[in-house]
Amino acid sequence: MEVKRKLILFLLMAITMGCVRIEGRDPTLHRVGGGRYTWSPNVNFTKWASHEHFYKGDWLYFGFDKHIHNVLEVNKTNYDNCIDTGFMKNITRGGRDVFQLLEARPYYFLCGRGFCFQGMKIAINVEEPTQIVPPAVLSNKAHPSCSDTKLFVFLVSVLVWTFM
Ligand SMILES: *[C@@H]1O[C@H](CO)[C@@H](O)[C@H](O)[C@H]1NC(C)=O
Ligand SMILES: *[C@@H]1O[C@H](CO)[C@@H](O)[C@H](O)[C@H]1NC(C)=O
Ligand SMILES: *[C@@H]1O[C@H](CO)[C@@H](O)[C@H](O)[C@H]1NC(C)=O
Repeated sequence: MEVKRKLILFLLMAITMGCVRIEGRDPTLHRVGGGRYTWSPNVNFTKWASHEHFYKGDWLYFGFDKHIHNVLEVNKTNYDNCIDTGFMKNITRGGRDVFQLLEARPYYFLCGRGFCFQGMKIAINVEEPTQIVPPAVLSNKAHPSCSDTKLFVFLVSVLVWTFM
C-alpha cells in the first residue's frame, strides 16, 4: 500500500477511536448588539464584540429600522472617520439582514446618514477556525474516549502496518 493511503487509513482509525478529534464547528449567527433590533444608536458595539469570537463562515445578523438606518461595509480609514461614501458593500436589505464572514480578516461596518457618529459602527476580527485538535499522544491531557488500551492497539497497528 502506498504511504498516502496508509496515512489516511491511520487518521480514520484514530478518529474512530477518539484519539484524534476533528473540530466540527457549525457556523454561529451573531446578533450584532446582542438582540433582535440592536443595530441602533447608543449601543456599545466595541463592548459587545469583545465578548464574541468570530470565525470564518459565521454569520452576522443586523436588526434595524430600514427607513432610518443602514449597514455598510467600509474600509478601516472610512470606519475610523465615519465616512459613508465609497463603501465596499451595502448590506442593507429589509432590516433583518444577514452577512456571512467568508474571510479570516478584519471587517468594518457602519451606519450612514450620520448615525456612525452616534456609535453605530463595528469592527470585527474574523479568525480561521481550528481544524484538528492535537492527538492525545501529544498532549498531557488524555482525550476521554481515547483510552490507554485503544492508544496502545492503535500505535502497534501503525508500527506493524508501516513496516509491512
Ligand atoms: C465601550 O466599551 C468599551 C469597553 O468596555 C469602553 O472602553 C468604551 O469607552 C465604551 N465606549 C463608549 C462610547 O461608551
Ligand atoms: C478606503 O476607501 C476610500 C473610499 O473608497 C478610499 O478613498 C481610500 O483610499 C480607502 N483606504 C484604504 C486604506 O484602502
Ligand atoms: C443600500 O441598499 C438598499 C437596498 O437595496 C437601498 O435601498 C439603499 O439605498 C442602499 N444604500 C446606499 C447607501 O447605497
